[in-house]
Amino acid sequence: MSILTKHKFIETNATLLLVLSFLVVSVGGLVQIVPLFYLENTIEKVEGMRPYSPLELTGRDIYIREGCYVCHSQMIRPMRDEVERYGHYSLAAESMYDHPFQWGSKRTGPDLARVGGRYSDDWHLVHLRNPQSVVPESIMPKYAFLEEKLIEPEHIEDLLATHAFVGVPYTDEMIEAAAADFRAQADPDSDYDDMLERYPGAQVRNFDGQPGISEADAMIAYLQMLGTLVDFSTFTPDASR
Ligand code: HEC
Repeated sequence: MSILTKHKFIETNATLLLVLSFLVVSVGGLVQIVPLFYLENTIEKVEGMRPYSPLELTGRDIYIREGCYVCHSQMIRPMRDEVERYGHYSLAAESMYDHPFQWGSKRTGPDLARVGGRYSDDWHLVHLRNPQSVVPESIMPKYAFLEEKLIEPEHIEDLLATHAFVGVPYTDEMIEAAAADFRAQADPDSDYDDMLERYPGAQVRNFDGQPGISEADAMIAYLQMLGTLVDFSTFTPDASR
């Protein structure tokens, strides 16, 4: 029997064809699936990633409260049009401290995964106050009330402790210093060295330019750090995986 006649035998025998197809698909499936059970972690470690500072984390909470994720994604897909518009595609590690993650499912507005540093604080303040004043055709709602609402770090220790509970590596020291770090980041005249040691690369400024710490300070601190922690001029994907 030549190989062709053997194949003809299989193809004309429905039960045998089914059994052999099943075997082939099973082996293929196992080869793909089994190794995943032996991976401890599918997130590649990336230099520069750190948990959010208390002020950034507060801004992130306001972002979620206001439903910004309904119109904005935070996930740049590795496709050319996206990478050219928004920057380097998002890495898994960049959202590993996000509980819940903010990938989003719809882009009424642009992706925000790398919006940090793209605009000035003033631009954000004016844009949040009245988006149409900078982008006339914008359908983004006004969030002027954010700069009027002054906030205190009342529950910040609990917030950090909750994130620590679900696996974010906040240390006891970070939780204890949370309220002080919250204030230090929004006050360039404060003694913020310890805060910077705990949260390398955190930006220290009066983000809304007004006295007191407002929700706009927290929101802009959060927006200005998005996508800025990993240095893509030196980043090389880990080829060992
Ligand atoms: C109804 C949908 C909608 C909601 C809700 C919304 N936005 Fe927007 N956003 C837009 C649109 C549309 C644009 C593009 C036009 C513009 O710049 O205003 C935009 C633009 C932006 C930009 C500029 C991005 C860039 O790269 O140019 C930022 C930053 C932003 N939004 C932040 C926020 C924040 C923070 C919130 C929540 C407080 C929010 N948005 C809520 C629709 C929305």
